Amino acid sequence: MKLTLALSKGRIFEETAEILSKIGIRPLEDPEKSRKLIIETSNPDVRLIIVRASDVPTYVQFGGADFGVAGLDVLMENGTDGLYVPFDLNIAKCRMSVAVKEGFDYAAAVKQGSRLKVATKYVNCAREHFANKGVHIDTIHLYGSMELAPLVGLADAIVDLVSTGNTLRANGLVEVEPIADISARLVVNQASYKRKRTQLQPFFELLK
Ligand code: ATP
Ligand code: PRP
Ligand code: MG
Repeated sequence: MKLTLALSKGRIFEETAEILSKIGIRPLEDPEKSRKLIIETSNPDVRLIIVRASDVPTYVQFGGADFGVAGLDVLMENGTDGLYVPFDLNIAKCRMSVAVKEGFDYAAAVKQGSRLKVATKYVNCAREHFANKGVHIDTIHLYGSMELAPLVGLADAIVDLVSTGNTLRANGLVEVEPIADISARLVVNQASYKRKRTQLQPFFELLK
């Protein structure tokens, strides 16, 4: 029985590949160069599928992959229905935060009970965060380049991921409120977890 691992291109692929190399598993192609979406590995029983970061839980939930690596941001936003989430991989670390344009008095806006326009890819997380604070918001759903929204008057604030803070700084934004610490989690298809337990076990040991 072959195992299929769902990964997204970029940091998740790179950091997971580094861990897999410790048990001698190497991808036979580089997803940055190849157009292939199924990548075989040096272990004939393990293959990788390359999907969008936010699609990893869907592929795993519906059995398109036995297991996958997904950011906590994606899991917080979309839920973990039908997934087994055994542990934190401690890779792709960053935080989800609220940021505003330099000079925008966020504390005052919150204190005055102003209605805020919030641009984000994480609409559910943003709604929950601001509801807990008792702040009314209108959300603007974007798929990327969130940092631009306050600069062009589309939003008062953004909810996005921050790591070094370079992207915020480069665009004259400041982080005003952390929402959650983020790192990548292993997600496992519940049926695979039962049926392929023996095959999955070495990965669990390694990844833990
Ligand atoms: P797409 O480009 O398909 O919309 P994406 O931007 O979510 O996807 P990545 O940037 O590779 O894809 O992010 C994958 C995961 O890595 C995110 O879900 C998050 O958990 C984490 N991540 C995102 N940005 C950073 C960062 N700057 N530093 C560390 N980890 C990050
Ligand atoms: C992510 C995130 C921020 C940036 C934060 O973008 O969406 O824009 O990283 O990291 P920093 O604080 O270290 O600057 P990413 O690099 O994934 O680019 P993307 O727009 O292609 O998703
Ligand atoms: Mg990104």
